[in-house]
Amino acid sequence: MNIIFMGPPGAGKGTQAERIVMEFEIPHISTGDAFRLAMSQGTPLGLKAKEYVDQGLLVPDEITIGIVKERLQQEDCGKGFLLDGFPRTISQAEALDSIMADMERKIDYAINLVVDRKLLLDRLTGRRICKKCGATYHVLFNPPKAENICDKCSGELYQRSDDTAEKVGTRLDEYINKTAPLLDYYRSKNLLLEVNGEEEIDTVTSNIVKILRGQVQ
Ligand code: AP5
Ligand code: MG
Repeated sequence: MNIIFMGPPGAGKGTQAERIVMEFEIPHISTGDAFRLAMSQGTPLGLKAKEYVDQGLLVPDEITIGIVKERLQQEDCGKGFLLDGFPRTISQAEALDSIMADMERKIDYAINLVVDRKLLLDRLTGRRICKKCGATYHVLFNPPKAENICDKCSGELYQRSDDTAEKVGTRLDEYINKTAPLLDYYRSKNLLLEVNGEEEIDTVTSNIVKILRGQVQ
């Protein structure tokens, strides 16, 4: 099963992806996570990505597409994958189509998590992430059992550098201008399915699972 998760910053893509990849045993491919890892390691890719990520801007297509192309060719993607945060521009979507065609594969579902803009700021400024395993929490909506400690691996939690009110504003503008047009791209291919991302985290997960198991059209 080849899946794309779409939705604005803070819609819950990462939170749901963590759960869905466990359920379907496929790799979670997050371009945002890939950039953050490279940034933390100070690699040439990380230094380049930092110029954009820290400002809340999209990283140029040629960089992003190259990373995804390489990742999709790895063996663990053979039985499917979940793309979280890619594609984010029409050029990226067209590149993905051509990568899929070269591999004689296709996208099965583009799931759009729908959340009103006014909820996103609270979600993003309260988000915390585990330094060690990358698990996502929220200080109010999904708190860890012990403050600032990951439930899964006991790692320390941190706040993303782009989760400030100012950068969230830029990220939302980037989403509206460059990524929202992709919804029509996938709608016209009959691949887009909308899920209410404002419900409880568990409810959203079970609604996505129903779609992926073909129990909902
Ligand atoms: P990326 O890391 O992909 O960030 P994003 O798209 O802005 O999305 P987020 O990760 O912020 O939100 P999410 O939808 O994953 O929400 P989450 O589940 O964490 O990208 C970061 C940057 O990298 C970009 O700005 C860009 O610079 C670059 N980049 C990445 N991909 C790129 C690409 N393809 N092209 C170019 N540049 C790219 O949830 C948010 C919070 O809400 C959490 O605290 C969570 O606990 C909470 N929450 C989740 N669901 C619920 C719920 N149902 N109810 C209550 N709270 C909830
Ligand atoms: Mg995310």
